[in-house]
Amino acid sequence: MSKLKIAVIVGSTRIGRFAEHPAKWIAGLAGQRSDLEVEVLDLLDYPMHFFGEERATTAESDTAEHWKKKLREFDGYIFTVAEYNHAPTAVLKNAIDLGEFIHKPVAFVGYGGVGGARAVEHLRLIFVEMGAASVKTGVHIAFNEYLSVLKEGKSLGDYPHLNEAAKNQLDQLIWWGNALKAARSVVTSA
Ligand SMILES: Cc1cc2nc3c(=O)[nH]c(=O)nc-3n(C[C@H](O)[C@H](O)[C@H](O)COP(=O)(O)O)c2cc1C
Repeated sequence: MSKLKIAVIVGSTRIGRFAEHPAKWIAGLAGQRSDLEVEVLDLLDYPMHFFGEERATTAESDTAEHWKKKLREFDGYIFTVAEYNHAPTAVLKNAIDLGEFIHKPVAFVGYGGVGGARAVEHLRLIFVEMGAASVKTGVHIAFNEYLSVLKEGKSLGDYPHLNEAAKNQLDQLIWWGNALKAARSVVTSA
């Protein structure tokens, strides 16, 4: 069976963002799986207009087109999820609105006060509407783990429960990724 192509999408563009830690960690773990080919997509590299914005520049529109096309290369997606006011970041929501995820699996690595859980739950609902399949296991990096990475030089891989959740998430992403890839090749609409 050919490898599944998975994108790890860095969901925050904030200066000094934490997002790079979970992105590197989960991409590293995914890259160790023989059945996955992994690429990190950083929203910093995709400065796009807001969906439907009248005053979009040509560069912003071209980038949005490129983003949409780029997403089509993948069989599944893992998002790093920051929680801003109990919701996903605006930049990530906009990138999702400008993209296509139909009949593909999505997975979330959240972080924050409650491990980004509220933002992750928003995303699960959003992706139902987009025709994607959200895998069961979320990875939730709690505040003490978040702080230990930022202030004590710890790494996310130091936490066995995070590694365990990531393993389960990747197992599910691979299962759904293969199932939906096969289905996409024979079923044309749903
Ligand atoms: C505008 C704003 C709103 C925030 N709201 C929440 C929140 O609702 N829940 C939470 O757990 N953390 C919240 N935080 C703290 C973020 O979890 C923390 O800043 C995190 O590092 C953001 O991710 P980033 O650094 O990758 O951008 C908020 C931070 C900002 C800047």
